[in-house]
Amino acid sequence: MTALYDTIGVDYARLRRPDPRIAARIAEALGPAETVLNVGAGAGSYEPEGRRVTAVEPSAEMIRQRAPSDATVVQGFAEDLPFDDASFDAAMAVLTIHHWRDPARGLAEMRRVTRGPIVILTYDPAFRDFWLLDYVPGLAALDEVQMPPLARFQDWLGPVEISAVEIPHDCRDGFLAAYWRRPEAYLDPRLRAAMSSFRALGDVSREMARLNADLASGAWDARLGALRSREALDCGYRLVVAPAM
Ligand SMILES: C[S@@+](CC[C@H](N)C(=O)[O-])C[C@H]1O[C@@H](n2cnc3c(N)ncnc32)[C@H](O)[C@@H]1O
Repeated sequence: MTALYDTIGVDYARLRRPDPRIAARIAEALGPAETVLNVGAGAGSYEPEGRRVTAVEPSAEMIRQRAPSDATVVQGFAEDLPFDDASFDAAMAVLTIHHWRDPARGLAEMRRVTRGPIVILTYDPAFRDFWLLDYVPGLAALDEVQMPPLARFQDWLGPVEISAVEIPHDCRDGFLAAYWRRPEAYLDPRLRAAMSSFRALGDVSREMARLNADLASGAWDARLGALRSREALDCGYRLVVAPAM
């Protein structure tokens, strides 16, 4: 299995820094866990401080971009976790599950090695109330193919609590919806390059030309300008928490 993020990951750590408000939501959901497994860890974003973290990540390029930390890093895949049963107090997987070849198996593995809660940050593929999807309809089509429907998490993990994670207007993490109040940012190919969905779509020059024209003419602001005074917005991101077994 190749690691897609060996190519997407170049420059990842600079553009995809953890946002402290989202980090606080994840840390709270992890509860009092002292040992935490981070699956699909990327460059280490959102790993909680003050706990013993073990990171699992398939891409050598992403591992190379980790900041120095005390975390133990293992190169590997969610679907085959090299740990004994019930090894960790809690586990997390942030914006990664849609990349897994077999999410059912990956989550079963997380459940097997984790005593306490499992915390997943993901995206609701049924969510449509985000203006970027109007400009780039291919994004919604892609989400339907790659993002697990929220209902599947209960099938895979048993009872789960699902809550919205609103995205702050100045979100530090450059994921797909991060720039909802900074629409001009989507015109920058370097920012789009850190978003796997734009990578998957390929050429979006027509879509970006339309956005550029609407921003220049004032059409974007006429329709969506009220967003420019919002502090945070629900763009479809969801925290899925499976309690301790
Ligand atoms: C969007 S990045 C998220 C990284 C990190 N969790 C973060 O929030 O910045 C998705 C990560 O999932 C990893 N990944 C892809 N397939 C995986 C698999 N089967 N098991 C574990 N991680 C995987 C990729 O290599 C990549 O680092």
